[in-house]
Amino acid sequence: MKVQIIYCHPSEKSYTFDILEQLKSSLEKEKIAFEVSDLYAMNFQSDMTEAEYEREGFAKTEISIPEDVKTEHQKIEKAEVLLFVYPVWWSDCPAKLKGWFDRVYSVGYAYGKSKTKPAEWMKTLKYGLVICTAGHPNEFLEEIGIAESMRKVMMDDRLGERFQNKEMIILGGTLDKEKVRPQHAEIIHTIAGKIKHFTD
Ligand SMILES: Cc1cc2nc3c(=O)[nH]c(=O)nc-3n(C[C@H](O)[C@H](O)[C@H](O)COP(=O)(O)O)c2cc1C
Repeated sequence: MKVQIIYCHPSEKSYTFDILEQLKSSLEKEKIAFEVSDLYAMNFQSDMTEAEYEREGFAKTEISIPEDVKTEHQKIEKAEVLLFVYPVWWSDCPAKLKGWFDRVYSVGYAYGKSKTKPAEWMKTLKYGLVICTAGHPNEFLEEIGIAESMRKVMMDDRLGERFQNKEMIILGGTLDKEKVRPQHAEIIHTIAGKIKHFTD
């Protein structure tokens, strides 16, 4: 699937789930095929095992990669666009998504010592889009420096050079959901158009 959504929220009663649904219907309207990895529904294991730590910590690439991580690698290799959708919890993504990065970004796949990119490394994707909902309004998150720190970590480190184009949209102000809902809906509405550009 060219468009892979990595979604992380435990509840269908959430605002973030509502955003996911809006995003899905906007993609469907534009006839953009997509697949959702719903990390909670999949019961994705976010904790590293000791063997995985040894593989990462000591770059022992001879230790085999777990099957669930290989499945995520295969999804990435088939995609051109990755979308991450999650709520901001303590100024970052939920632990389950953090665990996705810990485990799926394995050594010799997402990073390593080699200066030139070996064939077995993660492909360079065309577009990475991070959409996160936040209780605080965007202006406040900018003012206190948290928006900048979230962008640094997600954009510069986690997406990094693995994506030719990347963007982070903070849908802030969800403490007053009814106030922000229409403006967030407008933003979500424009996303299918952006994605189409990278999937045609
Ligand atoms: C455990 C937890 C931690 C949170 N931490 C933050 C935070 O650091 N900054 C912020 O703006 N909002 C924070 N929020 C608010 C969520 O971002 C907000 O609930 C979410 O964006 C939208 O609500 P939803 O859970 O209905 O999707 C937190 C919420 C929870 C449950």
